[in-house]
Amino acid sequence: MRKLKKQQVQNLKDAYGRTIDYLRISVTDKCNLRCKYCMPEGGVPSVSHQEILTLEEIARVVEVMAGMGLKKVRLTGGEPLVRKNITELVRQIRRMPGIEQLALTTNAVRLAEMLPELEAAGLNRVNISIDTLDRERYERITGKDALEQVLAGIDAAYEKGMQVKLNCVPVRECNPQDPLQLALLAKERKMDVRFIELMPIGQGRYYTGIGSGELLQQFAEHFGQGTSIPYDGEGPAQYYAFPGFAGRIGFISPISHKFCADCNRLRLTAEGRLKLCLYYKDGTDLREKLRNGATEAELQAAINEALQQKPKEHAFGGTDSGQTEQKRMNQIGG
Ligand code: 5AD
Ligand code: SF4
Repeated sequence: MRKLKKQQVQNLKDAYGRTIDYLRISVTDKCNLRCKYCMPEGGVPSVSHQEILTLEEIARVVEVMAGMGLKKVRLTGGEPLVRKNITELVRQIRRMPGIEQLALTTNAVRLAEMLPELEAAGLNRVNISIDTLDRERYERITGKDALEQVLAGIDAAYEKGMQVKLNCVPVRECNPQDPLQLALLAKERKMDVRFIELMPIGQGRYYTGIGSGELLQQFAEHFGQGTSIPYDGEGPAQYYAFPGFAGRIGFISPISHKFCADCNRLRLTAEGRLKLCLYYKDGTDLREKLRNGATEAELQAAINEALQQKPKEHAFGGTDSGQTEQKRMNQIGG
């Protein structure tokens, strides 16, 4: 009798019982900006075309993982909108059975011009990185006088009714005066504005992040007391409602409030490595397997095996064990 075993959906569970249903994909390590705390000024060695996963290879990984219980995908970079044919990947992932949510993290320099095609491909969620509303400071931080394009991108996405979240990394040496201004964007608009603690990754090591506690206090002084919003099961942000604000203010605090116990994510680097934790280097090389004709079952086995190695937590602030990620955020996906 033929065995009717398997191909039941396996749950992506790690050794600590965490269900992993979220994959962040760096579709390119290239970026059209040079944020000081992310990329070194002199630029970075460019990775050759062959080393980067093709869009077909990325789609295959998503498909295989969808069969294992993956539900949410985020495209990031570098800057995902500089990757050729990114819209096609958006369209494909949107159609994949099992994938309930697709989002994009972008610096929005090219967002306004690309929005029509992205929207037609089914994109409805964008996270936009913006660290200041001051044109000169924007250029000083990112190396490019592009604030206007970014603001146009934010407006366009919001007006199309997309779910828009703004992400700011407050850095003492770059934008200490900006979080307050940025937070005010959530006053009139039903848009989340979030503040992410700087992680000592890449150039981030040489700068001083501003912690969430300090900002919360500053906001309370200016906007009145914020009310903590109960956790909605979506990502690591802790949200607050401020009196008279249409949108929420969020804090992502990997340094002051570790959220590793609830981690639900894996990362796929542009070069096809499955990264288990932002903090640790290495990860399983899926590219080699993809290019050597691995079957679906073989890929699933490799992913499952990797998953069992997912570390319990990051160790930012601890002593360097020699395992620490040395790469930059543009390579591993912010
Ligand atoms: N710590 C926290 N966030 C970072 N980003 C880049 N480098 C760091 C870091 N060291 C953020 C960018 C952008 C996203 C892609 O990653 O500000 O929001
Ligand atoms: Fe580019 Fe993002 Fe790095 Fe800025 S933080 S240089 S936008 S990858």
